[in-house]
Amino acid sequence: MTAPQPSGPDTHGVAVDAYTAAQAAQDAAVGHETRTFKLWRGADGKGDFQDFTTETNDGMVVLDAIHQIQAEQCNDLAVRWNCKAGKCGSCSAEINGKPKLMCMTRLDELPANEPVTVEPMRAFPHVRDLVTDVSWNFRVKPRIQKFTPRPPDAPDGTWRIQQADVERVQEFRKCIECFLCQDVCHVLRDHHKHEEFIGPRFLVYAAALEMHPLDVAERTTALKDDFGIGYCNITKCCTKVCPEHITITDNAIIPLKERVVDEHFDPLRALVRLVRGPKRK
Ligand code: SF4
Ligand code: SF4
Ligand code: FES
Repeated sequence: MTAPQPSGPDTHGVAVDAYTAAQAAQDAAVGHETRTFKLWRGADGKGDFQDFTTETNDGMVVLDAIHQIQAEQCNDLAVRWNCKAGKCGSCSAEINGKPKLMCMTRLDELPANEPVTVEPMRAFPHVRDLVTDVSWNFRVKPRIQKFTPRPPDAPDGTWRIQQADVERVQEFRKCIECFLCQDVCHVLRDHHKHEEFIGPRFLVYAAALEMHPLDVAERTTALKDDFGIGYCNITKCCTKVCPEHITITDNAIIPLKERVVDEHFDPLRALVRLVRGPKRK
């Protein structure tokens, strides 16, 4: 909007007032606002919140505001991100106390007139400011038995599978490895069972392999003994924070738990297993 020009000395004061009101109205229309951000600063687990104020508008996401603060006020603020499109899983943090992607959290979704708090994930070692060391997750993944297809069904090297079985695992393949589900899971976050429990992300990964219609590997023993599936008490917190809306608990973890029970705690199955060996498919 063009600012109304003052028309003369006797209207000068009125014109300036009118301009200010018009500009304020325009700013309000596009959601311009000065907002306060309480950002965690520090290294190696020690630190505190530091307050910053910056100009925002409704279209901005939290990561935009952080980049603005980084550019204009705090060049050494550490923050991890890559795609700014909700696809790389790098910008995970806790926003107003909830695990979220910074690049997918719009400012207009957060309570107005309240500071926005941004702090690093708590289930992993802190590096600096908003950055955590998530490398433990990348050490977990190779421990899970790889995809092991059965021999082809036809002489031409092809398989025959049901469409419903193909679709069942598609949901699990949406995972972007943001590790927000790992961050919220109390077994890792509060009880620090990283040595004994692989966490919801890798139970999803195990489910994708285990329920694949061609896979014949045996994973139930590892799920029970090495991957700690019994620690999960189905609180569903992981499902609630997943930005890809994967139904982690109901569609991945509970069916895996049922497989473990069928395979290891059903006496008839245990007998069959003893006779035919560990493979179940
Ligand atoms: S449902 Fe299980 S894996 Fe998910 S957060 Fe709760 S305890 Fe952790
Ligand atoms: S399952 Fe969801 S919350 Fe967990 S790592 Fe994958 S995308 Fe992130
Ligand atoms: S920057 Fe890639 S998911 Fe946020």
